[in-house]
Amino acid sequence: MTARRRTDLPALLASLTRYRDLIDDWPAFCEAIARPLPTCLWANPARIAAGALAELLAGEGIAAAPLAWRADGLRLAPGVRSGRHWWYCAGLAHAQEEASQLPVTLLDLAPGQRVLDLCAAPGGKTAQIAFALGNRGTLVANDLAAERIKALVGNLDRLGIVNTTVTRGDGANFPTAAGQFDRILVDAPCSSEGTLRRNPDRAADLDVALSERLAARQRALLRKAVQRCRPGGRIVYSTCTFAPEENELVVADILAEQGGRLRLCAAEVPGLKTAPGVTAWAGRTLDPSLAQCLRLWPHDNDTGGFFVAVLEKDPTVPGEPEPAPAVLAVEPGDEDWVEALTDRYGLPEGLWRDLRIQRQTRRGLHLVAADHRPPVAPGAEGRGLFFQRTNIRPPKLTTAGALLLGSQATRHRLELTATQRDAYLAREDLVPSAQQVAEAAPGQVIVTYRGFPLGLAIWHRSGTLASLFPSRWSGCAGAPAAR
Ligand SMILES: C[S@@+](CC[C@H](N)C(=O)[O-])C[C@H]1O[C@@H](n2cnc3c(N)ncnc32)[C@H](O)[C@@H]1O
Repeated sequence: MTARRRTDLPALLASLTRYRDLIDDWPAFCEAIARPLPTCLWANPARIAAGALAELLAGEGIAAAPLAWRADGLRLAPGVRSGRHWWYCAGLAHAQEEASQLPVTLLDLAPGQRVLDLCAAPGGKTAQIAFALGNRGTLVANDLAAERIKALVGNLDRLGIVNTTVTRGDGANFPTAAGQFDRILVDAPCSSEGTLRRNPDRAADLDVALSERLAARQRALLRKAVQRCRPGGRIVYSTCTFAPEENELVVADILAEQGGRLRLCAAEVPGLKTAPGVTAWAGRTLDPSLAQCLRLWPHDNDTGGFFVAVLEKDPTVPGEPEPAPAVLAVEPGDEDWVEALTDRYGLPEGLWRDLRIQRQTRRGLHLVAADHRPPVAPGAEGRGLFFQRTNIRPPKLTTAGALLLGSQATRHRLELTATQRDAYLAREDLVPSAQQVAEAAPGQVIVTYRGFPLGLAIWHRSGTLASLFPSRWSGCAGAPAAR
């Protein structure tokens, strides 16, 4: 572990000294801020258990310890670049800072709930929510930034998520026509002081005026979330910043506006050391209930910093009827792909039972959870997972499609060696042995490593296997593993 250069520290800490009186152990806080942040990730529950992932990583020379408070979470050493490893490209895990895994834990999710993630990109929390819903039902993931939405869709594709509609727009204007939701996450844009261990250069941009500007947007987002929440529903408001102006003060203002229709709930996480919310700041005294907010200081658990408030809407206020869902288009012949793919790859028929096919673009087809009820508004950037390109000859499975369906393929599936795996991810052609191709006919094949699908390749009669791994797919560099 290398300590950050000392020259960075004074500027970094100077930007945080106004919080000194809020922190129980200032020297420990300063020390934590100066240390690199451990890498954290969670195991994709649809593909591998956390214990099995830890064993797999150990086999690759990467030590991983379970998180004390989240069964699927693992902590690795600082500096591990998970995105460059084959297991990451295969969607076995998602990298997410430990503190950042907290808000979704407090959403109290259960399958069947209708959920909105108002500021969703790049989607780590969206993916956590999607799996907590069993990858079924209706999750709407919204963000304002087009570029960040691309990253969001890439992550959802890599992880195999089919229950999410992605929308783009100002969350503060999220349309009433979308209906109400049982759970809403407002992981608000903020000054990100809690990420300074990872991005120390941000210290130069921080000041109170920035926090006050952001607070206006945060209030607007939280206000909209209250409006879109069903009576009795839950809202989690979170930021990765320390500034009370963006945290308790925002929550206090919205609670006051709602005049009793909204209440704060105690936020506790067994196994994680947390601190109560601030109740007095900059000459303002807040209601003592604001102490029920939760703060995560970096020195308490060797994490980044986070703030979470859990809010519940009065169950007795009138609710809105659920709007009719958008109609998902299917064109004649689209359903034939189920039979064609089942036949080619020897997939079990039952695989498709909880899924339906939808045509959203001319390029091909999406797979969507059968019980997904997307709202009519706002217009969707995408729903479910783009799995089959049909506008090319021959049509082919996408990489996301191969990862989602490939583990159940019994034909035209080719297991690679470690060297071949790295060549495949680097988009190089390779020559499989006669034994490897004994079961495959020329044409498209799903390639696997240790039984986990990596994507699609073309096996040519010449004996060459051509990689179809996308050049820049979902943050995976496609380069041989590096730590
Ligand atoms: C803290 S990040 C969200 C991180 C995300 N929840 C995750 O776990 O990956 C805040 C997000 O809010 C988005 N954002 C900023 N202003 C917004 C607005 N008015 N409406 C919706 N999203 C907004 C930003 O583009 C950014 O992606």
